[in-house]
Amino acid sequence: MSPRRDIVLGKNEEIAEPLVEPSVLGGEERDDASLRPKNLSEFVGQPEMIEHLDIVLEAARQRGQAVDHLLFAGPPGLGKTSLAGIVAAELGVGFRVTSGPVLARPGDLAALLTDLNDNDVLFIDEIHRLSRSVEEVLYPAMEDAKLDIVIGKGPSARAIRLDLPRFTLVGATTRIGLVASPLRDRFGFVGRVELYEPHELKAIVQRSAGLLNVSIDDGGAQRISERSRGTPRIANRLLRRVRDFVQVRGDGTITEESANEGLALFGVDERGLDKVDRMILEVLCVRFSGHPVGLSTLAQSVGEEPGTIEDAYEPFLVQQGFIRRTPRGRVGSVQAYEHLGLKTPLSSDQF
Ligand SMILES: Nc1ncnc2c1ncn2[C@@H]1O[C@H](COP(=O)(O)OP(=O)(O)O)[C@@H](O)[C@H]1O
Ligand SMILES: [Mg+2]
Repeated sequence: MSPRRDIVLGKNEEIAEPLVEPSVLGGEERDDASLRPKNLSEFVGQPEMIEHLDIVLEAARQRGQAVDHLLFAGPPGLGKTSLAGIVAAELGVGFRVTSGPVLARPGDLAALLTDLNDNDVLFIDEIHRLSRSVEEVLYPAMEDAKLDIVIGKGPSARAIRLDLPRFTLVGATTRIGLVASPLRDRFGFVGRVELYEPHELKAIVQRSAGLLNVSIDDGGAQRISERSRGTPRIANRLLRRVRDFVQVRGDGTITEESANEGLALFGVDERGLDKVDRMILEVLCVRFSGHPVGLSTLAQSVGEEPGTIEDAYEPFLVQQGFIRRTPRGRVGSVQAYEHLGLKTPLSSDQF
């Protein structure tokens, strides 16, 4: 077996941090890697999708073939990058990582493709951000394991077709709607990752605490998981902050009480909303007094990119019933008014 069977990470290829993520606590944590689940049995939650994925992987393993191309879609911090690594690890094949914005020219992708070994996993994060010309290179590569290149210019130019190894493309996107449909159609499996349930996040917090050597009791894990906006990355981040808090102000053990104090100190409220979340609700309920607000106006009002609002903040606020999306814009719900301690406007017709 060649040495390239290992996980290979080269220049340009470190696990890409997502472009957008909630700035719950400043987004300074970069050592997610140590907490990443390494195989399917360590991956908590998403039971239905994991069952399907397990079957797809097992079938390919039995046939000794490369797995069909896989696409993972969903909000940031829910485990898409982790899943890509898990697929490679479960199959015992090489893992190459890149992302849509990094692959600027067709040649960048061609260089990566020709450097793959048979059955390798090529992971393209933020695949919705690939340029059209790079996508064109990807199609024959995904379908027939061929690379079309043009040699020369003008009348003497010739197209030649190179054979590529059989590889598995794993794509990840926070915006399935922006993945061009010819590209989407070439994936044999699309796994949608959903926001996690509190009991799943609790298991993740407990696992991470074990890996970080932090002592935490049941109530402490419960509190952190309830306030993690359904997102494992945020659960891990809150765990680290509360760990800091109990180390400096407490006895080093995370309990229900110390978790509450630590989370309050860092501006996370009892529903898991952070400063930006609350600002969004205030804009909807107070500044626009319950009238529908367009995405770009909303983003401008809270000083975030529209994409960040849509990808990172809104899914949780919608899931929790704080925001409703209407054809005319976003509106704050009765719950949003209650959460902010405000009276619901009686004249409003949005409720
Ligand atoms: N299902 C899971 N089980 C355990 N930890 C998880 C799970 N999903 C995500 N994580 C944690 O959250 C972090 C962010 O996950 P990641 O795969 O980078 O998300 P995405 O690529 O969707 O933004 C990981 O480093 C890992 O610690
Ligand atoms: Mg990722």
